[in-house]
Amino acid sequence: MLAIIGGSGLTQLSNLSIVRREVVRTPYGEPSGALTFGELGGHPVVFLARHGYGHTIPPHLVNYRANIWALKHAKVSAVVSVASVGGIRSDLGPGELVVPNQIIDYTWGRVATFFEGGDKPVHHIDFTRPYDDQVRARILAAASSAGIVVHDGAVYAATQGPRLETAAEVNRLERDGADVVGMTGMPEAALARELDLPYAAVNVVANHAAGRAGSETSIAFARIESVLQDAMVRVRKLLESL
Ligand code: HPA
Repeated sequence: MLAIIGGSGLTQLSNLSIVRREVVRTPYGEPSGALTFGELGGHPVVFLARHGYGHTIPPHLVNYRANIWALKHAKVSAVVSVASVGGIRSDLGPGELVVPNQIIDYTWGRVATFFEGGDKPVHHIDFTRPYDDQVRARILAAASSAGIVVHDGAVYAATQGPRLETAAEVNRLERDGADVVGMTGMPEAALARELDLPYAAVNVVANHAAGRAGSETSIAFARIESVLQDAMVRVRKLLESL
């Protein structure tokens, strides 16, 4: 069974026929909300809204451990994360869909491992390729068969938020080699790897990152919402195809 973690703009899947909801208790506290089990494209899926169903949990306060543990507990075979991002690379403007292949982590102060405390031995996961190659390939194939254009490969910069970046910060991210910037990609991806859950992401470009084309002065929030709504129609189609 596939798990989908929905971010900003995707707090529910309108094409999901819901079978049941389950509140999962975890050793790490409460997940962002109940797991929603249902069917998408004739296949069972489980959906979780990363920021809560009322979109009240900011990126730095998401209980990433509880979310990933709950999905593992539900015996999912893979996790697809949907998350909105700012576009740094000039061809990644609002509305573009991106399947990233690398991560640079700039977050701080987030609990980023299951392996601490008690008698748990330290565990160093291999994270050379942070996203699962097979899940990525299946997302790309699903997009292709549904006729949806996605960008194959991008470096995702995970920032702390909840504020957006300064123009100078985005310049630094670009010098570091980042193509898109978001606030929720880490530690989520690393925690999934720690539990051996194949994990990949679909990023939806909501805006030009700060100081980039079209955002020379500031980021227009009214526009972000309409861009996301339009893009999520394609994301839902992609997920159904997947
Ligand atoms: N920066 C960080 N996170 C984001 C952005 C951004 O510009 N847009 C959507 N999520």
